[in-house]
Amino acid sequence: MFEIIDGKMISNQIKQELAERVKSEGLELSLAVVLVGDDPASAVYVGNKKKACEMVGIRSVSHELPASTTEDELIELVQKLNDDDSINGILVQLPLPKHIDEDKIIKTISPDKDVDGFHPESVGRLSIGQPGFVSCTPAGIIQLLKRSDVEIDGKECVIIGRSNIVGKPMSMLMLRENATVTVCHSHTKDLKEVCKRADILIVAIGKPKMIDSSYVKEGAIVIDVGIHRQDNGKLCGDVDFDDVAPHTSMITPVPGGVGPMTIAMLMNNCVESVNLK
Ligand code: GUN
Repeated sequence: MFEIIDGKMISNQIKQELAERVKSEGLELSLAVVLVGDDPASAVYVGNKKKACEMVGIRSVSHELPASTTEDELIELVQKLNDDDSINGILVQLPLPKHIDEDKIIKTISPDKDVDGFHPESVGRLSIGQPGFVSCTPAGIIQLLKRSDVEIDGKECVIIGRSNIVGKPMSMLMLRENATVTVCHSHTKDLKEVCKRADILIVAIGKPKMIDSSYVKEGAIVIDVGIHRQDNGKLCGDVDFDDVAPHTSMITPVPGGVGPMTIAMLMNNCVESVNLK
């Protein structure tokens, strides 16, 4: 029998712990949430982030700007938030409209307030094992594994996907936990054979149900980062759950697996901002 890793439950547990810490330490924290344009998915994510702030006891300060906002205007706002001592964290929701250079905006955010962990300084700190903000989705996956009593030390971990937000920081975090790490991508030869080596398989490819049981070693732990809306209206991941689950020891569902953890770890980064100055 396999165990389903309940990301919703674990994320609620983390938010509860953070709420208790905010209360007991009397922390007064503010997160600036910047949304540019009217992408409906981004609006939902930002709404969920603001709700999580309420639950944890963090003040969220919303900046909703029109799609016509110029790069210079956005840079000016971020600089103002950098200089505002009442703001602890700055979140600029991605993607930004095409006429704005995302890298330039990310670099403008002060590394002291980079709760997304996207700034090159945060990425550099992670890669050399110094304290700093860690990208929320990979940090959430580490929490899912640890809180499910998974021993990572010495395990074979295969990550499919090499994005700056998930694959690359994930590989750094698994290395920090003493896993043997392999990162696969679109040019990997014999993807199936490589995946079958994994004790822990982390899938972040962005293709609905691409990974079936022929990619999975019997008894492996499978973490699915993907989320897609199917033609029938239901959500699915990058993993074909029904086919793969019976061959695993543990697996995350979609929805309710990795997704809720991203926001919980954003809240964690906001609270940790007091220690990372
Ligand atoms: N867009 C999709 N995921 C994220 C995220 O984790 N942070 C930000 N800022 N934008 C996103």
